Amino acid sequence: MLRRIMGSITKQVPIPKNGVDYRGKIVLAPMVRSGECPSRLIALKYGADLVWGPETIDKAMIGTTRTFNEQTKTVDFSRLSSNGSKNPLINPDQKESIIYRLHPEREGKRLIYQIGTADPETAVEAASLVAKYVAGIDVNAGCPKPFSTTGGMGAALLKTPEKLCSILRALVKEVGEPNEIGISVKIRLLDTPEETQSLVRQLCATGITGLTLHCRTTPMRPRERAIRAQLKIVADTCHEAGVACLMNGDVTSRDEAYKLMEEYGVDGAMIATAAETNPSCFRAEADGGIASWEEAVKEYVKISMEVENRWGNTKYLLGQMIPGKQPAYKAMTRTKSYGELVEALGWGKEPELAELAKKTDEALEIGAFEKPKLTKAERKKLNKESAKLAAQSNETNGSQEGKEAAQVVGQKRSAETAELEMPADAAREMGPATVPEKASVLAV
Ligand SMILES: Cc1cc2nc3c(=O)[nH]c(=O)nc-3n(C[C@H](O)[C@H](O)[C@H](O)COP(=O)(O)O)c2cc1C
Repeated sequence: MLRRIMGSITKQVPIPKNGVDYRGKIVLAPMVRSGECPSRLIALKYGADLVWGPETIDKAMIGTTRTFNEQTKTVDFSRLSSNGSKNPLINPDQKESIIYRLHPEREGKRLIYQIGTADPETAVEAASLVAKYVAGIDVNAGCPKPFSTTGGMGAALLKTPEKLCSILRALVKEVGEPNEIGISVKIRLLDTPEETQSLVRQLCATGITGLTLHCRTTPMRPRERAIRAQLKIVADTCHEAGVACLMNGDVTSRDEAYKLMEEYGVDGAMIATAAETNPSCFRAEADGGIASWEEAVKEYVKISMEVENRWGNTKYLLGQMIPGKQPAYKAMTRTKSYGELVEALGWGKEPELAELAKKTDEALEIGAFEKPKLTKAERKKLNKESAKLAAQSNETNGSQEGKEAAQVVGQKRSAETAELEMPADAAREMGPATVPEKASVLAV
């Protein structure tokens, strides 16, 4: 396919029916912890064209249970966490740990799932679980953290281009094609323009529809200025193959993004830290530009309550959004629930927010609704009883029923989290996602 850019005819790979074209888009970057469901929804509200979910490692996704939450209207991929119990299957103290949460209705076809992987097979297995809910799958080949790189993932893939290409080819063939979505990759700069160009050429030959260049090398720290000298050559190389090229690194607003896109000849731009601080950076100046932190914070808290976001994650994000010198910052740090937060930020007299906070606290069992924790003796007794029950069930009925009996003891799962069987089309119409605290911390 050919298309005209700035007067010249360029090649363009076809965009699959259920996928999205990255061209002309200003998008939210993948951010572990800072890119969970409410962060993505607020970015979209302020005009982000597409949103990347936080890197989620393939092995964390495999084996999750998919459920539809009627209350929040989210699709959750979760697993039971043991909370230190000896028998994680059956302890009532155990919690559903949400590995990935997506909001089909509100994220729609605008969510890209970013995967952390070092293996084509596990990548395909994990990506297949979410493929019908998202508009694309992106491979993280840029994370410099040791957790990622020691497992051969993230930036380590830049040193094993053959492996990275085999992952992309497998995803294109086994996930992209059957689900009719695009596969893309996010990389960092290599040491020389020649090396970067050679890598980009190989990546573009795998069947991907998009490539994002984070304009920093692997050893560079986030505070170091992005290097844009190689951008043009990377964009040109992508264009030769018809692949869309997004730039990333120190882009701070929609208007600035448009200027940089023109200057460097790239197709779109990705924003991370500026959006983490104030997601209204996606709003063009002509439409109101960057909102005050007060407005953005209120909007974020409201959305977080609507999707019952984990309290710890909301508080973490507020720590990024509220300027440290503001009295509201200190007030926020002292709160332990949405109810307390709404009071502390001076919205307690707004009945709608106060009511929503109460409902959310109740659903999350925090603040006034926190359940008393089990004592050590109670936990021990319960472990004993539940182990006995599981052993009995296993003896007589096999392990599946043992699990069911355990769930009666656990009483954790309910109609609210009943297994979702959404028709494929309905799911496709809508959209995407969250990472568990542990995976998040590990993957940043
Ligand atoms: C909190 C945080 C989490 C991040 N998590 C990811 C991630 O999951 N996957 C990824 O490819 N990059 C991740 N990054 C890197 C960003 O996507 C982006 O490449 C980088 O911050 C540069 O963009 P910026 O200059 O706009 O901040 C993360 C960055 C931050 C600040």
